[in-house]
Amino acid sequence: MVKVVVGLQWGDEGKGKLIDFLCRDMDIVARFQGGANAGHTVVWQGNEIAFHHIPSGIIHNHITGILGPGMVVDIPVLLDEIRYLKELGISVDGRLKIDWRTHVVRADHKEEDAKDKLVGTTKRGIGPAYRDKYGRKGLRIVDIFYPQYVDHLPKELLDHYIKYHDALSPYVCDTVQLLHDAINEGKSILAEGAQGTFLDVGFGTYPYVTASHTIAGGACIGLGISPKAITEVIGVFKAYTTRVGNGPLPTELEPELESSLRERGKEYGATTRRPRRCGWLDLYWLKFAVKLNGVDKLAITKLDVLTGLPEIKVAIGYKEELPFITDDAHPIYVSLKGWNTDIRGVKRYSELPLNAKRYLKFIEDTLEVPIKWISTGPERDAIILR
Ligand code: GDP
Ligand code: IMO
Ligand code: MG
Repeated sequence: MVKVVVGLQWGDEGKGKLIDFLCRDMDIVARFQGGANAGHTVVWQGNEIAFHHIPSGIIHNHITGILGPGMVVDIPVLLDEIRYLKELGISVDGRLKIDWRTHVVRADHKEEDAKDKLVGTTKRGIGPAYRDKYGRKGLRIVDIFYPQYVDHLPKELLDHYIKYHDALSPYVCDTVQLLHDAINEGKSILAEGAQGTFLDVGFGTYPYVTASHTIAGGACIGLGISPKAITEVIGVFKAYTTRVGNGPLPTELEPELESSLRERGKEYGATTRRPRRCGWLDLYWLKFAVKLNGVDKLAITKLDVLTGLPEIKVAIGYKEELPFITDDAHPIYVSLKGWNTDIRGVKRYSELPLNAKRYLKFIEDTLEVPIKWISTGPERDAIILR
């Protein structure tokens, strides 16, 4: 059984929180794309842990965590992340696996990315690392272990990375074989998407996107599993919209409301601490995201953040019919009534105020997919399971 969890907006939908919840019943959690540009937060024993490379489900002791071949890994940053988790009491020894084929984000990739002005990247070297992968001059983990077989890179470059050989060796293996064996044994695997649908390099708001395929199809490419192996796609979205970095956000709020929502939702990047831009929920493009990913079930997060708003708007279409997302298009909004009862931490659907239920129903009716999880706070147990 392979479930794929993907973000349906511009990242930071609360994937980490949901994945941590779902991993109670999983055996393996695997990241399939991206690298340290991701920041997946889990609130655990009073600590707000932001996972960058390591899949967030690793918090559970019984879980095996995989860094799949579709990722790009910054080795010193990953080693720091392993140490940081250990300090918190989460040992990944024997449970963390990195695929041989995974590409390396090199120091020069980060230097180059630091000069980016157009996209507003996380400066983690992601774009240059993927460019070199596809340009057939990337450095892979396997190259560090078998340098004598490498004929596409200068020796000095390899020499620089050989120093990581010993630190990496406990973790490196063939994760493709591991996953195929696990599938055959009937184990439960969760593929953890990073970023979100509209940051996908092919289907997002190009060029204001990341450099990998973030959509559910990316899980096959990024893990080396067949599309036939995927049994369920879970789409995560925030009750409103946020985006960090540059690029269009047609439902963006006017400054005053935007900053009040940002403060209430603590909308600051988990990786870069940049303030996130905030907008109303965009059901028109969310519906497209549902289609692209083949979403079977939805999870909505941060519903609690909308409490207190007298009116909540949702975009259901655009005045101009354009085949891409642009700030030049004018959203057509439907206005729904808000609620005042504090719902933070609510665990039962029946305890939600009527207008919150109406908001959820409107979303379900429009997207034609059931909302199975409703997150009502950052804490692990602040979730309604329907
Ligand atoms: P991810 O990248 O998709 O994993 O999301 P991030 O971790 O970057 O951002 C989500 C933020 O919202 C984190 O700080 C979470 O702790 C927090 N969060 C997640 N779910 C909820 C929720 O239902 N309510 C509130 N108030 N915060 C949430
Ligand atoms: P998680 O997994 C939100 C954005 C950057 C920039 C664009 C390209 O936490 O949801 P990159 O560094 O990838 O080349 O930047 O993508 N971005 C994210 N935004 N959440 C993320 O990850 C992101 N990863 C990249 O802000 O606009
Ligand atoms: Mg994030």
